[in-house]
Amino acid sequence: MFSKQTIRDIKIKGHTVLLRTDYNVPLKDGKVTSDLRIRASLPTIQYLLDQGAKKVIVISHLGRPEGIKNKSLSLQPVADVLAQLLPERRVDFVDDVSGPDVEEAVMNLPRGGILLLENLRFYRGEEANSSDFAREVVESTHADIFVQDGFAVIHRAHASTVAITSEIPSVAGLLVEKEVSELTKVIESPAHPFYALIGGSKVEDKQPLIDKLLKVADEIWVGGKIAADGYAPNNPKIHVATEFKTDTTGAKLDISDQAAQTFADSITQHAKTILWNGVLGKVEDAEFATASTIVARAIGQKKGLTSVICGGDTAGFAENLQATETDLNYTLISTGGGASLELLSGLTLPGLEALDDK
Ligand code: 3PG
Repeated sequence: MFSKQTIRDIKIKGHTVLLRTDYNVPLKDGKVTSDLRIRASLPTIQYLLDQGAKKVIVISHLGRPEGIKNKSLSLQPVADVLAQLLPERRVDFVDDVSGPDVEEAVMNLPRGGILLLENLRFYRGEEANSSDFAREVVESTHADIFVQDGFAVIHRAHASTVAITSEIPSVAGLLVEKEVSELTKVIESPAHPFYALIGGSKVEDKQPLIDKLLKVADEIWVGGKIAADGYAPNNPKIHVATEFKTDTTGAKLDISDQAAQTFADSITQHAKTILWNGVLGKVEDAEFATASTIVARAIGQKKGLTSVICGGDTAGFAENLQATETDLNYTLISTGGGASLELLSGLTLPGLEALDDK
C-alpha cells in the first residue's frame, strides 16, 4: 500500500541523515505547550540511531515568519524538549540552517548525536522551494540521506519537502509511513459500517472531504460551527446536529449534550470504523467542550473500533483527554492538520510524491 521507500528499505549504518520533522508546535511564553509532534518523531530518530546512523541532523519550520528571523519563533525551546525526551542522547542546537556555524556544529557532534537546526522559514528559499537553499543545507550538514518524517508539512511544496529530494536519496520516516498508510486505508478500504464525524468551523475546508466521504462512508454526522452556521445536507447519509448550547449572547458554541450522545451511541453501536475531523464546539472553553468530550470518550472506550482522529484542534483535544483518561485508545491521532485533510480529500501531497519509489 505504501509505495515509497522508507528508512527500513535502506542501509542507515554510517550515514549522516538529514531528517525533516514537523516541529510546528504551539508555544506560550517561550515554552512548548504540546509536545505531540515532538514525541511523534521519536520512533524514527530512535530507529536511525539504533541502526547506526553516524549523526542525525533535524530540520523543521515553526510558525510563519515569512523569511525573516524572529526570535519568538526559534526552535531552541523545541531542542530543549527533545533533549528531555532523549536523556541518553546528545542533542545540540545551532541557530542557522547552513554555513560555517552549521558546519562546525555538525563537526562537533559526536557519533550518535542529534543536531537541530534553526527554523527553516527564517529564510525565503524554504517556502520558495529553492534548489540553491536546499543544496546549501545538504552541503553544510554533509548529509547523504534525506528522511521525510514531517507528515504535517508534506502537503507543502517547499525546499525541505521537494527541492531537497533532488540532492540526495530521499525516503520516508516511520511517522509519514504510518500516517499515510492509516489515512489511505480509512478512505480507500475501511471496515464497514464506516462512519465519519465532521466538525470545525470552515465549511469551505470541509466540503471536499465530505464530498469524498459520500462515496465511501455509510453515515456522516456533522457538528461544530459548520452545523451551528446551518450546514444544509444534500444527501440522506448526512445528519446535522440541530440542538446547541449557547452563551449569554445566544451564540451557538457547542452542540447539545443530547445531540452528542446521539452521535456517540450511533457510532459505538454500529460503526466498525470512525473518522473524526473537527471539534464539535469551542473546546478551548471548558463549558463548550462537553460534546467533544462525550464523543471522544465513547470512541476511545469502544473495543474493536478503528478510530482515526485528524485535524489540528481535534487531534490536540483527543491527545489532551487521553493524557488524563488513560483508558482511551485510538488507532491513530494524526499529527497533520491540512496534510491529513488534503490526503483524505484525494489531493496529491508534493512532499510525499517527491520521495524515492520502492
Ligand atoms: C501545520 O501545522 O499544519 C503544518 O506545520 C503546516 O504549517 P503551514 O500551514 O504554516 O504550512
